[in-house]
Parts: sequence; structure tokens; C-alpha cells
Amino acid sequence: MSDDTLDESVGDPAIDEQLTMGIDPWERNWMKLTIALLVGFFAAVTVAGFAAGFQLPGAEDRVDPRTVATEGPWADPGVTDLGNGKFEAYVLAQVWSFSPREITLPVGAEIDIYITSSDLQHGLKVTDTNVNIMVVPGQVSKVSYTFDEVGEFPYICHEYCGSGHAAMFGTVNVVSEADYAALAEGGGDAETESTAEEGDE
Ligand code: CUA
Repeated sequence: MSDDTLDESVGDPAIDEQLTMGIDPWERNWMKLTIALLVGFFAAVTVAGFAAGFQLPGAEDRVDPRTVATEGPWADPGVTDLGNGKFEAYVLAQVWSFSPREITLPVGAEIDIYITSSDLQHGLKVTDTNVNIMVVPGQVSKVSYTFDEVGEFPYICHEYCGSGHAAMFGTVNVVSEADYAALAEGGGDAETESTAEEGDE
């Protein structure tokens, strides 16, 4: 029923009572406001989740924090090129460092990051991205991101974890396809890679 109908009925208490189900106008307005807020929040959550790419960090898997650094994929943390621009990284957080400390990707790379902690609670925040996740011992947190721009994206621990907390950081280096190919050709060992990087500058 429209407000017009209500306005026309003003003055006839019987009809007024019928149309409004005996609800006080103030209460009716509060109900309208409540419904509007619910619709607004629902829209905001929907937009955040589907359009703005917000991700709720879920518990992807469980691991034993006592052995995670010595057994399984986090024993040798790092990035794997899965082909077709897809990558996955196993990152281990522990007092007070991330392994690996550097992640190098070609521009456009879609990466799934699986991160866990071998000691206490840490966090992972990659600057200028929506990668922002809690790192909990015993739990694997997964976060996905596509790096569309060349540049350096520092990552930090954003959960206070003791005296070395401020030293707990790393960098995602997003380079051009050509630079990435050159680095990949340079071979796997770190020495060759750093020489290639110097050559680029
Ligand atoms: Cu790890 Cu703060």
C-alpha cells in the first residue's frame, strides 16, 4: 500500500487503524529504516564479496605446526609456476621472518598463496592489494590475487608477534613478461638471479 492511500485516510480513525495495522507511525518509520539498513548492508556485503574482491580468509586445511617446517610443502617454501599465468606459493611465517622473503612474478600472474605459521600467530598484508590474512599455527590460510601492475609490493606481518615483529617483511616483485623470462632463463640458483637483476639496471 502506498503512502498516498494512507494520506487520504487521515481523519478516519477506523480506516487509519486498518491500514496501519495499529502500528504507531514512529514505529513504522523505524521499521522502514531497519529494513533499509538491512538491504544496504546486504548490498554492501554482496558488492564487497563479488565486485570488490574481498575474501574472507578461511581455514583451507590443518597442519601440525610442530612438523610443518620440516615435512610437506612448507619444508621447502617458495613459488611454483603452474603455467598459463597461474602460480602458487607456499609461505611459512615464523619468528621473525617469512619464507620466502621475495616472490617474483610476471605481470598478470594469478597466484594462490598458502600460508601457515610454525610457532605463533602472525599476519600477512601485501601493500596495495586486498591480500590481508591472519596466519595461525596449525591452520593453512589461502588467499588469491592477480598482480596486474609491474612494481614492488612489500608484505608485512600485521599481527604483533614479539620483539622482531617489525623485521618481519618481504617483497612481491612484479616484473614484465620479458624480465621474468630472462630471470627464469638465468637458472634457478640465487647467485645467477641476482647477477641477472644487476644486469637489468
Ligand atoms: Cu609476525 Cu608480527
